[in-house]
Amino acid sequence: MTEQRGNWTSSMGFVLAATGSAIGLGNLWKFPFITWENNGGAFVLVYLICIAAVGLPIMMAEVLIGRKSQKSAVGALKEAVGPAWGLVGGWGVVCGFILLSYYTVIAGWSLFYFTKTLGWTATGFPADLQTGELFGAQVSNAGLQVMLSLGFTIATISVVYFGVQKGIERIARIFLPILFAILLLLLVSALGMSGSGEALAFIFRPDFGRLEPSGLLEALGHSFFTLSLGMGAMITFGSYMDRNQSIAKASALIVCLDTLIALVATVIMFSVIFSVPGMAEQVGSSTVGMLFISLPALFYSEVPFGALLGPLFYVLVALAALTSTVSLLEVVTSFLIDERGITRHKATVMSGGAIFVFTIMAALSFADVPILSTMHLFGEGDTAKIGWFSTADHFVSNWMLPTGGFAITMAAGWFMTREATEGELVDGTEPRWFHYGAWRFFIRFVAPIAVGAIIVSVMFFNVDFS
Ligand code: TRP
Repeated sequence: MTEQRGNWTSSMGFVLAATGSAIGLGNLWKFPFITWENNGGAFVLVYLICIAAVGLPIMMAEVLIGRKSQKSAVGALKEAVGPAWGLVGGWGVVCGFILLSYYTVIAGWSLFYFTKTLGWTATGFPADLQTGELFGAQVSNAGLQVMLSLGFTIATISVVYFGVQKGIERIARIFLPILFAILLLLLVSALGMSGSGEALAFIFRPDFGRLEPSGLLEALGHSFFTLSLGMGAMITFGSYMDRNQSIAKASALIVCLDTLIALVATVIMFSVIFSVPGMAEQVGSSTVGMLFISLPALFYSEVPFGALLGPLFYVLVALAALTSTVSLLEVVTSFLIDERGITRHKATVMSGGAIFVFTIMAALSFADVPILSTMHLFGEGDTAKIGWFSTADHFVSNWMLPTGGFAITMAAGWFMTREATEGELVDGTEPRWFHYGAWRFFIRFVAPIAVGAIIVSVMFFNVDFS
């Protein structure tokens, strides 16, 4: 069976698709709340350093492994590094599988809030509505959760089904500009609010007295998640890339865009929160709920043009999530295509269908369902991970992404030859700021030590990244 392998239509195609993968719930949901939990400023600065010193070099490593071999995760690592390294690729495929299973559920919530905000815009925000209760009611509604995630799964499958150019690249091309436009509107509106000054100070004025050591690790762990690293997604996307494009330049652009969007989203949310008296205390008790509990009502009471921006905001979250879920599914699908010789159409439906079984488990984690909502493998007491959703998130964020990332730094820094990596990174297309020696130093020493610290802290110090 020799189906033509996919490729991007242009160098911009790769950048757009990879940026779409990187920008997702990590930027709009997770980054703002971990910034909140870690008291802003100093945490943000540390995060920026982690992105530049660890995220960027690993991003280049993944992309170069993919482009060099023109194969998806398993085949690429086998060919570029050695047969045993196929296992690392396989680890990535499993990671994509598990991550997608619960990521889709959160994406489904954004669909719920999109329809809700549309309704409120049409008929007015109900005066006596408690958004905390609304959130609790929707997550524990089994039928609703399965329907929402089924909807999102179908959307994801439909995109991947059409392949690299007509599916993945095309939706990134259409959705990313829309996403940027909506964020810009929201930013303008948020900066006009009374709390914007306080928000900017909170985010950009570092106060190292307020940063706990665990915040440092959290920043590092999140830089993996937000850049879609550690599981072969960027290897896979890199494998569809052309030879006459600079890996360093493309990677830097992706990393900058992802970081910019995370910061803009945080400025927007915090401007709203600081504008409302007492809101900061209220959010403190439910940071995870910021996006789905604190914000929905505020669009109707505080935000200028909120009735319009509310629904737009939740569409934005859904679009950002979709460009991420397609790349997750692509990791699993491309494995079946490249390693098992299955056609794309079949492979997409098979992998999407199999993952959906686990998505159902994640979707039912907050409903009263035996085992799924009570299973308990990790953590004790207050930090216990109960239910498949939390279990999967814990396993992926604490174990799978860091170990996968560590293996990739080893592969690119120590197991591949200097000629092999230099040949990909230095080919006449690289930008002037790029220095191969510097990259090599970061990938051999800085990145493995940093990622190793994550693994050690998870194993021995009970640090939790989920
Ligand atoms: N980067 C995505 C986000 O910030 C999440 C993610 C992590 C991801 N790993 C991935 C997406 C791999 C696609 C592929 O939301």
